[in-house]
Amino acid sequence: MESWIAPSILAADFAKLGQEVDDVVAAGADMVHFDVMDNHYVPNLSVGPLVLEALKRHGVGVPVDVHLMVKPVDRLIGDFLDAGADYVSIHPEATEHPHRSLSLIREGGAMAGLVLNPGTPATAVEPLLEAVDMVLVMSVNPGFGGQAFIPSSLEKVAALRRMIDASGRATRLEIDGGIKVDNVGAAARAGADTFVAGSAVFGVPATAAARSDDYRAVIDAMRSAIWAI
Ligand code: DX5
Ligand code: ZN
Repeated sequence: MESWIAPSILAADFAKLGQEVDDVVAAGADMVHFDVMDNHYVPNLSVGPLVLEALKRHGVGVPVDVHLMVKPVDRLIGDFLDAGADYVSIHPEATEHPHRSLSLIREGGAMAGLVLNPGTPATAVEPLLEAVDMVLVMSVNPGFGGQAFIPSSLEKVAALRRMIDASGRATRLEIDGGIKVDNVGAAARAGADTFVAGSAVFGVPATAAARSDDYRAVIDAMRSAIWAI
C-alpha cells in the first residue's frame, strides 16, 4: 500500500488556515489530518464542522482525515459527513456501540477509522476489523500536539500489521503523535502506512521565501526515511 503523510492542522496557524492547507498540499501532503477535541473526552478544545465546511469550500485537494476526540460521538459524525469529511475516525471509548458508530460513517459515504489510545490493546480491533477502513494507533495520549512519542506504540503497530495482513484486507494503518523525521522510519518498519505529523511539519522554522518550500523539506525527509527501510 502506498505510504501517506498526513500533516495535522492542529499545529497550523489558524489565522490563515486556508493558506496553510494550500501550502502543505503544494508541499506534497497526501492527506490532511483534522483533530476535533471537545474538552470532555480529551482536555482540550479545537475545531468543529463549521471549520471543515469552510476548508472544503475553499478546496483541499487531498482527502481530509477527521479524528474525532469527542464524547458522545454519534451525533457529530453526521455533521462531519455533511461538512465533507473523507475519513472519520472514532475512539471506541467515546461511544456505547463502536460497530454502530463505524457503520454510520460508512453509510454516510466516508471511510471509517478506529483509534486506539496508548492504554487500549490491539485486540480491541479484532471484532471490528470488517467494519473499519483504517486503524489509527495513538503514539501519544490524545488531546495535545507536540508531545513525546511513546515507543511501545511500535509493538502495537506490529501486532496490528500482522492482524491486518492475516485478514487479507486493505485496511490502512495510521500512527498519530510525536512523529518526526527521526522516528517515522521505525513506524514504517513496524508496519504503519499512514503517518500523521503536526508540529514536525507546521512547526518547522521558516527559512525559505515560501512556506510550502519549508513544509516540502520536512515531508520529503519523512518520505526518504520511509523509503529507506
Ligand atoms: C493529538 C492529535 C494529533 C496531534 C499530533 O491528540 O491527535 O493528531 O495533532 O501532533 P504532533 O505531531 O505534534 O504530535
Ligand atoms: Zn489526531
